[in-house]
Amino acid sequence: MDKLHQRIESIIAYVEPLKPLINSHMVSYITDDLWNKYVPEDMRDEYESHSSTEVFDLFFNEDCSRINRTLQKFIKEASSMTVYGNDPEVTYKVKDFKKHLVSLGCSTSNSLNFDKFMRPKKTHEVEAMSDIVGVISEFAGVSHIVDVGDGKGYLSSVLALENKLSVLGIDASPTNTAGAAKRVEKMKKHWKGVRRKMDNVDDEKLDTDNVVYQQHTQMVNDDTDLAAIAEQYFPEASILGIVGLHTCGSLSPTCLKHFVRNPGLKFIVNVGCCYHLIENSDFPLSDFLSRVSYTLSRNARMLSLQPMDRIVQSEKVQSDPLMYRAVFEHMMDNVFNLKGTTKPDVGRISSKCSNFVQYARKACSRLNLPLSMTDEEIRTYYEELRCHESKLQFYFLLRLIVAPVIENLILLDRQLYLLENGFPHSYMVELFDSVISPRNYGIISIKLDT
Ligand SMILES: C[S@@+](CC[C@H](N)C(=O)[O-])C[C@H]1O[C@@H](n2cnc3c(N)ncnc32)[C@H](O)[C@@H]1O
Repeated sequence: MDKLHQRIESIIAYVEPLKPLINSHMVSYITDDLWNKYVPEDMRDEYESHSSTEVFDLFFNEDCSRINRTLQKFIKEASSMTVYGNDPEVTYKVKDFKKHLVSLGCSTSNSLNFDKFMRPKKTHEVEAMSDIVGVISEFAGVSHIVDVGDGKGYLSSVLALENKLSVLGIDASPTNTAGAAKRVEKMKKHWKGVRRKMDNVDDEKLDTDNVVYQQHTQMVNDDTDLAAIAEQYFPEASILGIVGLHTCGSLSPTCLKHFVRNPGLKFIVNVGCCYHLIENSDFPLSDFLSRVSYTLSRNARMLSLQPMDRIVQSEKVQSDPLMYRAVFEHMMDNVFNLKGTTKPDVGRISSKCSNFVQYARKACSRLNLPLSMTDEEIRTYYEELRCHESKLQFYFLLRLIVAPVIENLILLDRQLYLLENGFPHSYMVELFDSVISPRNYGIISIKLDT
């Protein structure tokens, strides 16, 4: 636990002076003059001396990086704060985690590809997660699983069909529950044909008659009696595994709390998402951070969701949506005199607009703002603020660099919570490729001694 404490402490110390940057919002980049407020002066100077260079290159092109010392120091420091790869006792890559499981006495398997049944991103997630859940179930002697927030049942159905686990999916949405029930019946029809073409096939794998995947519609919270619900469906099961793939907001902390409180839950494999939706009472979870009343603002938690590796791989910043929104904020302040008021939510409309004129008109109509400008006037308004675009990209990338550190802090807090509660076999595992699936860390814990 000491190593985890140290890592958390160093992240907190690192993040503290960056709080103004991570607490800010791209929406008010222009109106609040965030460039001059929060970008360090030496970094601004460096930027000015390369203003003709593409902003992305300033961050990620090696030739530029040699020149921009302050920026490179910033990037290096951020990356030293994240726990990519193996940092024993803190985090594992999935391959090494499987080796660790073998060292505990567990036998591993080869994962399979289920791309005939779902989109590539989901295939990747389900492949990795069902593999780990299958291996741990066998190791822990668990044959029954509760999949909380099972959605349309992508993971649950593979756990039932391939791993031959009896699965209960619990989801708050009746539409999802009904969809999952239909989907698994459809999958069963095609299973034999598809599965036969894969590795490691035997008669038991092809069987669909004894597949158990049941669905239950219910909102799960800290007070939900999961054991009682499971008993309705699986009266024969005294122990269960609890899993969750992209359990949004507070649903991950809720699952972890159930795992801690309920001795019948033998293991947990949980991948969270939507950290901005976490209730204040669910971060931090650990005593270590609670004792110092540590908090992260909603904006900081929103930032932690940015898919950094995907953006780096794409080699560009999609700045139109950011610019449209920042310029519209300027319009709300200066055309509609809304400065200082709580602004209504514009929503995600940029993908439906091919230029700022369309954006401004759509946003005004959503917010019932009477826009009396002509298209030409709106265009000119935008063009006059266009000078901010490359600095806005810089600001976006500067914040992006810190995003993984914040996500790490949220996840390390979850891992620490499990360790503090007496479960030494608690891990943070990089389950997915972050370019394919940006929320790629699983919190995994196994009760080996109970
Ligand atoms: C991001 S989706 C993930 C679905 C599925 N696990 C997957 O990976 O395809 C989250 C799911 O959790 C469900 N959900 C969210 N909050 C919930 C809660 N408190 N109790 C039960 N289900 C919840 C939603 O209805 C949704 O189906």
